[in-house]
Amino acid sequence: MEFKFSDNNIIKAHEIIKKYPKGKERSAVMPLLYLVQEQHDNWIPTVAMDHIAEILNIPPMYVYEVANFYTMYNKKPVGKYLIQICRTTTCWLCGSDMLTKACKKELGIGVGETSKDMMFSLVEVECLGACTAAPVVQINNDYYENLDEEKMIDIIKSLRDTK
Ligand code: FES
Repeated sequence: MEFKFSDNNIIKAHEIIKKYPKGKERSAVMPLLYLVQEQHDNWIPTVAMDHIAEILNIPPMYVYEVANFYTMYNKKPVGKYLIQICRTTTCWLCGSDMLTKACKKELGIGVGETSKDMMFSLVEVECLGACTAAPVVQINNDYYENLDEEKMIDIIKSLRDTK
């Protein structure tokens, strides 16, 4: 497998790198990992981490460490829709367990799994920073708030219709 930023994204990558002071360019690792996810079906292969290391002129291990520390970077293929259910205290008290159960039943997959048609992946995550609207679910870049099982299933059905 090979990975190179597209012509557009290599321009974006250099714009991102320019935002950091000279000698501190390695701080651009996180936004560059996001840029890889945008380009590469929402996941980051090791070759893409190597590509970032090459661009930033840093050891690949530095990029691996960052990518593996943060859960928002996907290191393996995920479905078209990545469903992230917040399971931290506020969301848990407001029923996040029931949302997980509804997703499992509707999708026929467990937490950490992807549906066979590659449409949905299901994960549980820590606080999404929107506790006042608990329980909260993030699907790709969108937040869905004040959910219950019925609303959750309706969302899955509407996303399934985009197939
Ligand atoms: S506890 Fe779920 S968003 Fe904060």
